[in-house]
Amino acid sequence: MGKTSRDKRDIYYRLAKENKWRARSAFKLMQIDDEFGILKDVTRAVDLCAAPGSWSQVLAKRLFVEGSDAKVVAIDLQPMAPIPGVIQLQGDITSVDTANQVIEHFSGEKSDIVICDGAPDVTGIHSLDEFMQAELILAAFNITSHVLKTKGTFLAKIFRSRNSSLLYAQMKKYFKKVYLAKPRSSRQSSCEAFILCLDYSPPEGFVPTMSKSSLELTDASGVTADVIDGFVTCGDLSGWDSEKSYPLDIDVSFQKGIVDEDQKNRYEFKDVVQPPTDPAYKEALEMKKKGVFSKVSADLTKELKAERKRGREQRKAKEEEERAVDSVAEKLEAAQIEK
Ligand SMILES: C[S@@+](CC[C@H](N)C(=O)[O-])C[C@H]1O[C@@H](n2cnc3c(N)ncnc32)[C@H](O)[C@@H]1O
Repeated sequence: MGKTSRDKRDIYYRLAKENKWRARSAFKLMQIDDEFGILKDVTRAVDLCAAPGSWSQVLAKRLFVEGSDAKVVAIDLQPMAPIPGVIQLQGDITSVDTANQVIEHFSGEKSDIVICDGAPDVTGIHSLDEFMQAELILAAFNITSHVLKTKGTFLAKIFRSRNSSLLYAQMKKYFKKVYLAKPRSSRQSSCEAFILCLDYSPPEGFVPTMSKSSLELTDASGVTADVIDGFVTCGDLSGWDSEKSYPLDIDVSFQKGIVDEDQKNRYEFKDVVQPPTDPAYKEALEMKKKGVFSKVSADLTKELKAERKRGREQRKAKEEEERAVDSVAEKLEAAQIEK
C-alpha cells in the first residue's frame, strides 16, 4: 500500500492525523458522547484496552476542563505513550489485581463510567475471532462490575453476530437501559457497534466476579434483539462518510464533512500521531535491521544448495551402480550365449 492510499481511502484516518488523535476511533467516542452526553458530569473514568490512546485523549479533552478534578485511568496490555493527566496501567483487564489498582487510584471510590474499545488479536478464523471478542466484552464487564458505581455507565465495542442478543440480555440484567450505538465514523460495512449500558443497577445479592464467561449466557435463552432500548446512529448524517473516498486536496480540518471546493490545498503526507511504543513486530524489525534475516536466509540457501548437491551425487552414484549391474548382467548373458 502506498503512503497516501490509506489517507485517500479513509477520511477519518486522515482527520485523526490532522487533529492529532492517536487513532480514528477518537471520532467514534466523540460521536457517541455528542449523541448521549455520557461524559457529562463525569469525574472518574476508566478506559479499558486503551492503547494507543485516542479514547483517553478524548476523555482528557472533555473531562480535564477548568475547575474539574477528574481522574482518568487507562489500562492496556501494551505500553502507551503518556497523555498528560491520564494514569496509565500496563495490565490485563481479566485480572482482579487490575481492578484493585483502579480502585486504589480513585482512593477507594468507584468510577462514573467504564469504556472499552478492546479487540483481541485476530486469527482470521471468523468464529474464533467472534468468540474471543465476546469473551473480551465479558471480561470488560467483569472488571466493570468491580469498579463501576451504581447508576454508572458502561460502553463497549462489540461485533454484531448471531449471539449478540444474548449479550444484550445479559447486560439488561445489570443496567436499566441498553442501547446499541453506531457512530458515523464506524464503517457501515463493518459489523462493529457499541453497546451502551446506562444506569448500573446490579441485582440484589450480586457479587462481582472475574470468572463470568460466555458459558453462562444460557440463562438468557429465548431472548431476541428487541431486548435493547434502541439502535442509535450517532454523528451528523451530513458529515464525513467513512465509506467514501475523498480527493486528497480537500481541507479535512473542517469537521462538518462538507467538501469546500474553495478550500482546496496541496496534499501533504503526515506521519501517524503516535506509532506503537512496543509493538509485537518490533523485535522482527530490529532483527531485519541487523540483517539477521539475510543471514538466516543466506544460511538456508547454503543448506538448500548443499542438500541439492547431495541429492545429485546420490542420484549419480545410483545410476553408476545400475550401469555396473547392467554391464555385469550383459557380460553374463554374452558368456551364456557363447556356451
Ligand atoms: C483497538 S485497540 C484500542 C484502541 C484505543 N481505544 C484507542 O482509541 O486508541 C485494542 C486494544 O485492546 C488491547 N487488549 C486486548 N486484550 C486486552 C486485555 N486482556 N487486557 C488489556 N488490554 C487488552 C490491545 O492491547 C489493544 O491495544
